Amino acid sequence: MKIFLDTAEIDEIRVAARWGVLDGVTTNPTLYAKVGGASYDDVLREICDLVPGAISAEVVADDVDGMLEEGRHFAKLASNIYVKVAMSENGLEAISRFKAEGIRTNCTLIFSSNQGLLAAKAGASFLSPFVGRLDDINEDGMTVIRELAEIKAIHELEAEVLAASVRHPLHVTQAALAGADIVTMPFKVLQQMVHHPLTDKGIAQFKKDWEAAKAALAG
Ligand code: E4P
Repeated sequence: MKIFLDTAEIDEIRVAARWGVLDGVTTNPTLYAKVGGASYDDVLREICDLVPGAISAEVVADDVDGMLEEGRHFAKLASNIYVKVAMSENGLEAISRFKAEGIRTNCTLIFSSNQGLLAAKAGASFLSPFVGRLDDINEDGMTVIRELAEIKAIHELEAEVLAASVRHPLHVTQAALAGADIVTMPFKVLQQMVHHPLTDKGIAQFKKDWEAAKAALAG
């Protein structure tokens, strides 16, 4: 399963890339707005230079021509750009036009397996169900991941299931078990995955015992 960071923060991306666990990055207008300071193009270029994997750049237009114009522009920024298009009637048309042009897409704001199925048929490379936002409204977000992974296996779909809107490490484990191909997560969740209180306690104990053994030898 691939791990993506869900952020536009360059420092976070740099750290995760150094850990050797980072396969890609997803951004959206909200994540870009949190960073500011540079144009979206410049932020995307910097991320693409740091990470060789898939980098999602989201279009904001809601008409097909506008989506195509923004997406073609993003695709020219770097060869690893995936154009993120929100699920809608126009979004499906844009996804299928991008596919015909050889531009890869990530269909975002998916909340049902039927929406995912349509996005896959239109030619999206990634299907992004938002698990956290479904959980927020008392629905089980992971069900969409499980159903789409099953539909993908039964019908041999090419699209990859990307679990998005991840809020905590348990979501990552559940998405992995549900058959997600990719999970995108905030940096904080990636850090939470690294740590365990018993690991931290064990490291401190080993260090203490090592120092005690060295002191005994010296003295
Ligand atoms: C990623 O592709 C999505 O835009 C992101 O995971 C949404 O997360 P949120 O529901 O926490 O805003």
